Amino acid sequence: MRSNLLSMQLFRLLCGLLEEKTGVNYHASGIETFSAKVYARLEVAGFDAPLDYYYFLRYDAASTDEFDALVDELVVNESYFFREVDQLKSLRDDVVLPLVERGERPRIWCAAASTGEEPLSIAMLLADAGVLSHVDIVASDISRKALARARSGEYNIFSLRACPLDMQQRYIDVTAGRIVVAPEIRAKVEWHRHNLLDASAIASFGTFDGILCRNVLIYFNDATVRRVVGTLSGALRTGGRLFVGATESLFRFGILMRAEEKNGAFSYLRAHE
Ligand SMILES: C[S@@+](CC[C@H](N)C(=O)[O-])C[C@H]1O[C@@H](n2cnc3c(N)ncnc32)[C@H](O)[C@@H]1O
Repeated sequence: MRSNLLSMQLFRLLCGLLEEKTGVNYHASGIETFSAKVYARLEVAGFDAPLDYYYFLRYDAASTDEFDALVDELVVNESYFFREVDQLKSLRDDVVLPLVERGERPRIWCAAASTGEEPLSIAMLLADAGVLSHVDIVASDISRKALARARSGEYNIFSLRACPLDMQQRYIDVTAGRIVVAPEIRAKVEWHRHNLLDASAIASFGTFDGILCRNVLIYFNDATVRRVVGTLSGALRTGGRLFVGATESLFRFGILMRAEEKNGAFSYLRAHE
């Protein structure tokens, strides 16, 4: 039986390609899982040898679909409703509500939204505050598979582990063994496929009052974090806020945005043009 463990050299070649295109940095400690996923994909794609598969991905213009399928297998899509909820409440109270009170129409973007629990949680909080119809919510991710799940609005029980019961009762149907988000909540989120490294595509996306980019920067190296945060700050309107994950402090990057703690949640304010 052949071994399905990549050589360190092939592991580095494939990781280099993936990091170049997606920013995601894979550690050698994960070589076994990484190898198993690569072998599963290369067999489906009809290759015998991982080096041929690498050449195909690297040099063949027809490899885009296969590359996307490999990314789908390798990215970590972990998410759940009301994750790090203090930030979601700060987005509502410190970004959305003041703008709505001034008669403006806030735009919110969940970058790297995975299977959609994050933008849908925001929509539920805004529906509860009676302002959902005054806000535009855009959500994006690089993974086609995650977006397909997000668009379906259907989840498993683990997604509900931090979901307050009242929110669940109001906006999530858990009858008949299926967990489905209410259509009026789902209809408020506009889903897009976007790579955070693609600055020009993001520029065409318009500007936002609040951007969430949580639990994805941890997979990037420092140079990529700087690059992505630069792109995101360019997509923020003056007075807009960027929210990153609790373990993803941007302090050491010396960024131009101002870090603020409001109601127990950190965010980065774009104070000037
Ligand atoms: C762990 S999930 C985070 C989901 C959600 N933000 C949360 O905090 O619950 C990380 C997501 O980042 C996405 N991702 C990784 N690299 C990306 C890139 N270059 N552009 C856009 N999304 C990316 C993955 O597909 C995955 O869905």
